[in-house]
Amino acid sequence: MMHSPRSSNHSGDSIPRIGGERVGARPIIGESPSLRHVLEQVEIVAPTDATVIVLGETGTGKELVARAIHDASGRSQRPFIKLNCAAIPSTLLESELFGHERGAFTGAVAQRIGRFELADGGTLFLDEVGEIPLELQPKLLRVLQEHEFERVGGTHTFKVDVRIIAATNRDLRGMVAAQRFRDDLYYRLNVFPIAIPPLRERPDDIDALVGHFVDHFALRMNRQIDVIPRETLDELRRHPWLGNVRELENVIQRAVILSTGARLTLPPIRVEPMPQRPSKEVETLEGVERAFIAQILDETNWVIGGPRGAAARLGIKRTTLQSMLKRLGLSRPRVGGSPEFNAGRSYREAGRTSEENRAVG
Ligand SMILES: Nc1ncnc2c1ncn2[C@@H]1O[C@H](COP(=O)(O)OP(=O)(O)OP(=O)(O)O)[C@@H](O)[C@H]1O
Ligand SMILES: [Mg+2]
Repeated sequence: MMHSPRSSNHSGDSIPRIGGERVGARPIIGESPSLRHVLEQVEIVAPTDATVIVLGETGTGKELVARAIHDASGRSQRPFIKLNCAAIPSTLLESELFGHERGAFTGAVAQRIGRFELADGGTLFLDEVGEIPLELQPKLLRVLQEHEFERVGGTHTFKVDVRIIAATNRDLRGMVAAQRFRDDLYYRLNVFPIAIPPLRERPDDIDALVGHFVDHFALRMNRQIDVIPRETLDELRRHPWLGNVRELENVIQRAVILSTGARLTLPPIRVEPMPQRPSKEVETLEGVERAFIAQILDETNWVIGGPRGAAARLGIKRTTLQSMLKRLGLSRPRVGGSPEFNAGRSYREAGRTSEENRAVG
């Protein structure tokens, strides 16, 4: 069976959709029950002013969901301001959030408006909120509770009306238990959590996402791709997608580049542990385990048994490793594709770069 992206209602970026409806600037693609549930929650919470926290692994679409909430809210004509709390050194974060007066600290040569002021009347998206240092958390709590703050080095109290959407891929509750995150701030943020499941737990979204990205990149690169072979879709469904939708998007972009004819040609895709962000916290045990095992498998070329196999390297029985792979959702990537193509590293780097450019919005 073939899937033709052109036969679906081709929308590109021009007809924004949330699960088929026109909302927001970018469509959120997917029909799986778990993604539908996410979209329902977006619709329910958007018109309220409630604080939302979006939870999910890297690349699952947390920022996309945050924007969709803003776009579907009464604040859509007002600014959507983003701050990636992990991308800014903790010493500068306070001034990024609240602004500073001239001379507030060494290097503060001019007055600066913070993100809370910029977002007044609109939405402030606090990405990677788990990275906010403990000593700054009381000040954030105050603005969430009292809607007021002072600029660094200033005495004037500013009153703002800002809707907060936070996101994290960390276990905030665990951080509270470890006293790395204030419990009062946690409860302030945890008003309406929306959890986006990892892509490997919703393989039913793969076909639609692939069709969407093929359309999108083919249009941008002026290619005509009419056929996505069923085997290709099946193979994409089996990949563990540790980088979730962003990784899939990058793979499809490469595939479109590689496809000289009307059929989508897939590059070989490798299972790679995601590059870790610099972080003071320990990741979840399962995440560490998955990344580590994926790396060993990659090194052993997916040879599991035998003296040089991954099980021996890990010092466990072959059958134990096999059941771990099942539990962690790891499976062997396709070997082959176009042999001259060195997959993996370069597309990941290309993907990171474009992400980094958008990181501090
Ligand atoms: N359901 C979806 N439909 C269409 N595009 C999606 C979907 N989910 C994610 N994407 C795309 O995947 C990429 C990653 O999404 P996004 O930046 O929102 O993820 P994230 O969870 O914020 O990632 P990170 O934790 O790394 O910051 C974006 O290009 C986004 O447009
Ligand atoms: Mg993000």
